[in-house]
Amino acid sequence: MTTLVIGARGSVGRHVVDRLLAAGEPVRASVRNPATADLPAGVPVAAADLTRPETLAPALRGVRKVFAYAPTEGADAFAAAASEAGVEHVVLLSSGSVLLPSANGNPIAEEHRAVEATMAASGLRWTPIRPLVLATNALNWAGAIRDEGVVRLVHPEAKTAPIHERDVAAVAVAALLGQDDVDGMLTGPRLLSQRKQVELIGAAAGRPVRIEELAESEARRRFGRFEKPEVVDAILAFIADAARGGSPATGTVERVLGRPGIEFAHWADEHFRPGTAEAGRQQL
Ligand SMILES: NC(=O)c1ccc[n+]([C@@H]2O[C@H](COP(=O)([O-])OP(=O)(O)OC[C@H]3O[C@@H](n4cnc5c(N)ncnc54)[C@H](OP(=O)(O)O)[C@@H]3O)[C@@H](O)[C@H]2O)c1
Repeated sequence: MTTLVIGARGSVGRHVVDRLLAAGEPVRASVRNPATADLPAGVPVAAADLTRPETLAPALRGVRKVFAYAPTEGADAFAAAASEAGVEHVVLLSSGSVLLPSANGNPIAEEHRAVEATMAASGLRWTPIRPLVLATNALNWAGAIRDEGVVRLVHPEAKTAPIHERDVAAVAVAALLGQDDVDGMLTGPRLLSQRKQVELIGAAAGRPVRIEELAESEARRRFGRFEKPEVVDAILAFIADAARGGSPATGTVERVLGRPGIEFAHWADEHFRPGTAEAGRQQL
């Protein structure tokens, strides 16, 4: 039963591919531009773009299970193409924010709710995977750490429980392999302030990293250079909510995987210690 992994080079998707291969499952990897695909040898590659419905039928031919990112556009066309192709199970990378009442009205949470609603209405068997805060968000700090030894933060004491992308993938693969108790918000094993997260990254990188606290207005100005205003607002709202204690740590990963989630210190070591493959990827 072939599984199509849409976004096979993504931080979560690449671990989904690796785990399925390790489990001996037939995998087809989808990337939007196969010319630049850097995938494990021997894995068949398809060029599916969730926003281009005409690319979906060829990628889905013969596929029975799909891991997919939650597309901000094209969810209807994807669900229709998956039904048409005879897909039996879609495992959707959604967001734990859909389970947070404090995130009602937050555009990022609402986008994921809308995609989930489309899947729920599709008649397909589908399973949402709902991480709340990916540890990979901290990679956004890498450039300033490398160039200036600083991280600029709003609410440095705000606590979140970042989850390792490998744990998200492990839960997704458990669902793809038939485990049916993967529901619930996925987080890392413990709450850590942003300040502590930066400290752990500095320890992994082997260099002191200063924290510069930003007022929300200044953060909005800086983030606004890279993101649309509504995304900036959504991110700032999540951080402000975390500062009020609204970002939980859950036991879902341990319950589903039968082992504790990976510690953020370990994630930081893998991604920021000089000489590791991930640190190379970030040009640290
Ligand atoms: N950041 C957080 O804290 C957080 C929290 C909760 C949920 N999430 C969810 O996690 C997602 C990010 O996961 P990630 O870190 O693994 O992302 P990532 O590393 O940025 O990878 C995203 C993948 O999505 C693929 N993709 C993007 N647009 C596509 C399209 N139109 N059609 C097909 N594939 C497309 C890309 O494939 P190509 O190789 O073709 O470029 C890429 O491999 C978010 O989008 C969100 O839904 C994130």
